[in-house]
Amino acid sequence: MPEKVFIFDTTLRDGEQSPGCSMNLNEKLRMARQLDRLAVDILEAGFPIASQGDFDAVKAVAAEIRRPIIAALARASELDIKRAWDSLKEAARPRIHTFLATSDIHLQYKLRKTREEILQQITFAVGLAKSFCQDVEFSPEDAGRTDRDYLVECCHAAVEAGATVLNLPDTVGFCMEPEYEKMFADVKARVPGMDNVVLSTHTHNDLGLAVANTLAGIRGGARQVECTINGIGERAGNAALEEIVMAIHVRRDFLPVFTEIRSVELYPSSQLLTKITGVAVQPNKAIVGRNAFAHEAGIHQDGILKNAITYEIITPQTVGMHTNRIVLGKHSGRHALTSRYEELGHKLTKPELERAYEQFCKLADRKKNVYDEDLIGIVREGFKDIPEMFSLKLFQSLTSIGGRSTATVELERDGEVFQYTATAEGPCDAAFLAIDKITGVTGTIQDFSVHTIAPGASVEAEVVILAQFEGREFTGRYASHSLVEAAARAYLTAANKAVYELKRVAVAAGGASN
Ligand code: KIV
Ligand code: ZN
Repeated sequence: MPEKVFIFDTTLRDGEQSPGCSMNLNEKLRMARQLDRLAVDILEAGFPIASQGDFDAVKAVAAEIRRPIIAALARASELDIKRAWDSLKEAARPRIHTFLATSDIHLQYKLRKTREEILQQITFAVGLAKSFCQDVEFSPEDAGRTDRDYLVECCHAAVEAGATVLNLPDTVGFCMEPEYEKMFADVKARVPGMDNVVLSTHTHNDLGLAVANTLAGIRGGARQVECTINGIGERAGNAALEEIVMAIHVRRDFLPVFTEIRSVELYPSSQLLTKITGVAVQPNKAIVGRNAFAHEAGIHQDGILKNAITYEIITPQTVGMHTNRIVLGKHSGRHALTSRYEELGHKLTKPELERAYEQFCKLADRKKNVYDEDLIGIVREGFKDIPEMFSLKLFQSLTSIGGRSTATVELERDGEVFQYTATAEGPCDAAFLAIDKITGVTGTIQDFSVHTIAPGASVEAEVVILAQFEGREFTGRYASHSLVEAAARAYLTAANKAVYELKRVAVAAGGASN
């Protein structure tokens, strides 16, 4: 019978500690709600002693998020543990997570304490945490470099004092998989009283082995894994939640475990984190990277179109990504081209396809990616010079630090003027929303890039936007001294193309047009 592996998310604690990833209270709450939708089992909300902001965030998460266990981190000291408990009091299912380093390196250089003193401190800290809260997790920090016999003693002291979870961190990302696996097997076999104690992994990615080590820990007997969305965390990061979950899901034959994560929320979780922190995910990142399901090689595209299992072990829909998988470029073949044209509503005859393919190849030689609008341009001369459906008459943008943004947009179409004021998280979002409301088409941003075209005292930037409207992609670009104006105008260009093309398709299909 497969056993459940509990997913312990530490995006808001270990993840938040990484450079550029700090979040304020509202951002932490937004992320916590998404982690709840994702169905994580344990949500580590912060390190309350670290700052008043951390304390308030843990308290707010504990008060609102009721399904998962809410954990708070504390060093093995009275002050830390009391502070953690104060922040957790309102939680439906609180957990105090206390830690103390156990490796000789940390004892000698950081803590300047003897092994005996550390053992006593573990007993004291876990016992104190237990007096507040039934659910206590203990982490011997740097377990990966701790002498094995001594690690067993430390774990024994923690279990005797009442720890319900033992987490064995590879704090510095030093372990190799067999070593990490064996540490779990040893602790399980040698520490008395382990029957009611859950073993947990916590791995860092300094050697790029965080996920592999997590899976090794599971093989060694761990049934809780600590991880973060997008793998954010100290230095090279923590183990990526989405990669662990999908490895377990895809290789059920290999790992006798399952998770209760709602995989369709993986991509939305990754996107939300990126949006909140502004830290982008590398395009080739497994599971959630922009290119994780993109196929450019002609042979691969042909295979995917015949049967996706030829080159895909997971469908993008499984992880909540709804995107066009076929990226047309110079490696694409006729099959991919015909297929995309059909999706775009163009049924080409054989000679038409040959002509289109020839032009497509020329274009693909010059451009990295060929977008839908390029394809439409190929079959219908003059597309690039489409009449401006809506022209911008007025644009005002208001942003306040820490608050929401407002944009007022006035567009003219056939002599009639339309105005809309929208409010959103950021100034660009507000502008795009106002444009959507007036044009009647709704776009989702696929790519947004900014290039400085005239650096110096007065910076002029060009914004290039790739947006999807009703499953079709359109681009827009604009340069201005105002970044927000450039974004709004670039988006309007893409929206104008979408309005024009969607109208054409509707007319061709004999449907309504406006
Ligand atoms: O990496 C680590 O050892 C930690 C502990 C606090 C669990 O983050
Ligand atoms: Zn860590």
